[in-house]
Amino acid sequence: MRILVTGPTGFVGSRIMDALDAVPSPSLRGMSESQVREMVDRTAPDVIIHTAALSDIGQCRKMPEVSYHANVELPLWLVRTGVRTVIFSSDQVYSGLPGPGPYTEERAAPANLYAEHKLEMERRTLEAAPETVLLRAAWMYDMPRYGCRNRGNFLMNMLRREEIAFSSTQVRSVTYVREVAARMEKVLTLPGGVYNFGSETTLPMMETARWLADTLRLRIRITDAGRQHDLSMDTGRLQKSGLSFPSVTEGLMQCIRDYSLMDE
Ligand SMILES: NC(=O)c1ccc[n+]([C@@H]2O[C@H](COP(=O)([O-])OP(=O)(O)OC[C@H]3O[C@@H](n4cnc5c(N)ncnc54)[C@H](OP(=O)(O)O)[C@@H]3O)[C@@H](O)[C@H]2O)c1
Repeated sequence: MRILVTGPTGFVGSRIMDALDAVPSPSLRGMSESQVREMVDRTAPDVIIHTAALSDIGQCRKMPEVSYHANVELPLWLVRTGVRTVIFSSDQVYSGLPGPGPYTEERAAPANLYAEHKLEMERRTLEAAPETVLLRAAWMYDMPRYGCRNRGNFLMNMLRREEIAFSSTQVRSVTYVREVAARMEKVLTLPGGVYNFGSETTLPMMETARWLADTLRLRIRITDAGRQHDLSMDTGRLQKSGLSFPSVTEGLMQCIRDYSLMDE
């Protein structure tokens, strides 16, 4: 099967390129619909895994047109080529939903522009091509990858900082990106639709941070960032399709083992 991966040098795309035998797409920045179609026609993939996006919430707020192009139009144009597409969405679509999680896929309420664009993208791509697979991904982490730009993530922030603030009320998943990449082959067989995608947890972020600090004996001061909206996801739909993730602490433990982060 010929798999085209967009955003192949990005945080998620580069790990997917490590895990799969796939064709990297060129940058899609600023492309028109006809340029997207030409690129896809030239590559002739059986399936597309779309990770390219403007994924920073603050940048999306500052550059709404760029966010709309990257997060709504580009994915829509990809599915309109007629090639089955797997697209990364985000747990941020739950950021304004009343009541505590874990949330199921049926209801969402974005509280920021990035999430609004992701939710519009989900609706429009599914309307255009019901076989599209949309993954509402949790916040992902990894150690730096050789030769790649390194963006802050939960693990790196914990390892680098002397002091950090996390909410003592917000239950939120953090997920090992290599566990995500390892599941992509199976994702390609999922029926079309929206799936919560990541590790489940019942721990508030502050407790997850404490667990990691204790496990790695980090000298980091963890303070309470106060009340923040839940972002925890129910992954029952994914599990019914035969796919599951380890829990948040099991995923962190796997990463710790993979990179030998703990003293022998
Ligand atoms: N990282 C997370 O924790 C997380 C959590 C939830 C959901 N997600 C979603 O997962 C997907 C992958 O995330 P990521 O962290 O890998 O993203 P990323 O590293 O920030 O970006 C991926 C790639 O997107 C391309 N890109 C950046 N700005 C663009 C623009 N304006 N127009 C078109 N392409 C642009 C870049 O590739 P080029 O330089 O080749 O253009 C970049 O390498 C995204 O859809 C993101 O929203 C990520």
